Amino acid sequence: MSNPYTFGDSERAENRLWQLAELYAPSSRAFLESVRALLGRAPSLACDLGCGPGYTTRLVHEVSGAAETLGLDASERFLGHAAGGVGVRFSVHDVTRTPFPCPPAGLIYVRFLLTHLTERPRVLRDWTAQLAPGGLLALEELDTMIGSVPALRRYYSIVEAMQRAHGQDLHVGRALPALAREAGVEVVRDQVARMTLPGHRMAMLHYLNIQTWRSDAFVSSHYSAVQLDALEAELRELAERPDPAVSVDYHMRQMVLAARA
Ligand SMILES: C[S@@+](CC[C@H](N)C(=O)[O-])C[C@H]1O[C@@H](n2cnc3c(N)ncnc32)[C@H](O)[C@@H]1O
Repeated sequence: MSNPYTFGDSERAENRLWQLAELYAPSSRAFLESVRALLGRAPSLACDLGCGPGYTTRLVHEVSGAAETLGLDASERFLGHAAGGVGVRFSVHDVTRTPFPCPPAGLIYVRFLLTHLTERPRVLRDWTAQLAPGGLLALEELDTMIGSVPALRRYYSIVEAMQRAHGQDLHVGRALPALAREAGVEVVRDQVARMTLPGHRMAMLHYLNIQTWRSDAFVSSHYSAVQLDALEAELRELAERPDPAVSVDYHMRQMVLAARA
């Protein structure tokens, strides 16, 4: 895989993705319902890129009404644990490479993946080229995330620096309009969903994640073990003690793209 995926595919990473899927399911469901309305009909094939253990894949399948939904991910381990079902299947594939191992799709869905990739305009262009005529590429990526307490803000600033060091973009949602222009693709819809997320649930996601990425070479050379231990402990405490005053102001960019006619 040409892009390093810094959040791992361990059992802990899988548990994090399950909790993340629960947290974002309502907003993603609403977005997918609006995309289904834009399509006007159920697609024959929907694809979920960077599908992880398949939580988003099953949501895409259910909401789009696709005859078949294919989840693609680079992690054999995640896909080994992904539960398919009627009309849902999975395939190991580096999605920065096209063609995908399937016919052109009526819907391609992508959540929290572009943030981890480097050649962003090129992949957007390549993905729209995998659409069937009239097909849509639906993306959900972070635009802005503001924690109400210092530990959350410190966590976000380290992740942002780590991703930048890898040529990635934590806030790629903000860049989506410019990326779409550079890719030369059509913007069908561009919106920002604003949510206030419970701090303890976000802290749990981050507590699980920091244990994976703290061994990243950039992180271990720029932050001391003492700093990282302290942040890990603070996140754990926030996760274990729900406090309504602790929250994250979260802006999710939701964009629908199509190939230029
Ligand atoms: C943050 S997770 C998001 C999972 C899912 N889309 C969701 O929103 O719950 C990113 C996923 O992208 C996968 N991934 C990262 N780079 C990839 C690549 N180049 N090709 C395919 N999958 C990739 C990772 O293995 C991981 O499962």
